[in-house]
Amino acid sequence: MLPVPPYVAALQPYVPGKPIEEVEREYGVSNVAKLASNENALGPSPRAVAAAREACAKVHLYPDGSAFALRGALARKLGVTPEELAVGNGSNELLELVVRTFVAEGEETLTAEGSFVVYRLASQAHGRRCVEAPMRERRYDLRALAERLSRRTRVVFLANPDNPNGTYFSEAELRAFLEAVPRDVLVVLDEAYVEFVDAKDFPDALALRRRFPQLAVSRTFSKIYGLAGLRLGYLVASPEVVAFLDRVRAPFNTSLPAQAAGVAALEDEEHLARSRALVASERPFLSAGLRALGATVWPSQTNFVLADFPGRPGGALFEALLREGVVVRPMGGYGMPTGQRITLGLRAENEKLLGALKKLLRA
Ligand SMILES: Cc1ncc(COP(=O)(O)O)c(C=O)c1O
Repeated sequence: MLPVPPYVAALQPYVPGKPIEEVEREYGVSNVAKLASNENALGPSPRAVAAAREACAKVHLYPDGSAFALRGALARKLGVTPEELAVGNGSNELLELVVRTFVAEGEETLTAEGSFVVYRLASQAHGRRCVEAPMRERRYDLRALAERLSRRTRVVFLANPDNPNGTYFSEAELRAFLEAVPRDVLVVLDEAYVEFVDAKDFPDALALRRRFPQLAVSRTFSKIYGLAGLRLGYLVASPEVVAFLDRVRAPFNTSLPAQAAGVAALEDEEHLARSRALVASERPFLSAGLRALGATVWPSQTNFVLADFPGRPGGALFEALLREGVVVRPMGGYGMPTGQRITLGLRAENEKLLGALKKLLRA
């Protein structure tokens, strides 16, 4: 038996959404609607695909390790400098890199219980304790978080809007929290779903960075940009933070096709607008449809909804839906034995889900 550190032996692996091919193979169904991983139902930007394809002709060369063109394009779009940008193999890599870079032995990370599980996993994978403050009605309770700040807290992870809950906190709440955070604690605001937000009091995190330099903002190309399979994310942070991350990261952490696709995706405003419009129409449609079937649905600012089906064990409902050719995400692992997280699909996919649920819930 190869010895591993006890914190590695204790790790539970991340459970991803079930891939379409696996469902087809195991359940003998076709035309599967995958509503399990908060991907973009419209697919990627055609311009991004063309750019990635073109870049493939040059994949005998290493990518630009500094991602010069992509960081430049992001900097122009966001109104920051390239020195304030780190890019990663998905924002997931950057979240983990933050722990590796800034949290020493005996120090801690802080987040909310029931939020995105990667914050805890990334901490545990490096033998660091992740302190979790309770949520309130499936929303971040930033006061409860502030109460748990300690001398050992090095990094705070906040998902806004949150996954899997879909809920958000306001600019006023975030400001009050940041006032309470010492300047030597890094606050990573994970905005993976920010492009889907329509709440008027949602924080302008990039503007808040001017007043709170310890604030870093992570975002991804996996959601609205539809490039989850290429793995690309970015972090906006102080040049000092970015420089330290640069020392620790792998030399070529984002691929040539991913960098090229990222630049093209940023220019494709039409794809962005269509993706936003789809979510704006499907979020109320699916939420209302689920409520009509007796589910509790949390208000969402994302491209998914969290629904609870009282009396319907999550694992069994998930399995039954697979047999109907619909993949959702059961929330047992998030302490919701009858909960499901459902990504907004195309109208036909959402109707397929509602039809299947109608049949199953009646049975
Ligand atoms: C809140 C949140 N952060 C980060 C990620 C990671 O995204 P990626 O690594 O694909 O950029 C996800 C993916 O589901 C997410 O929901």
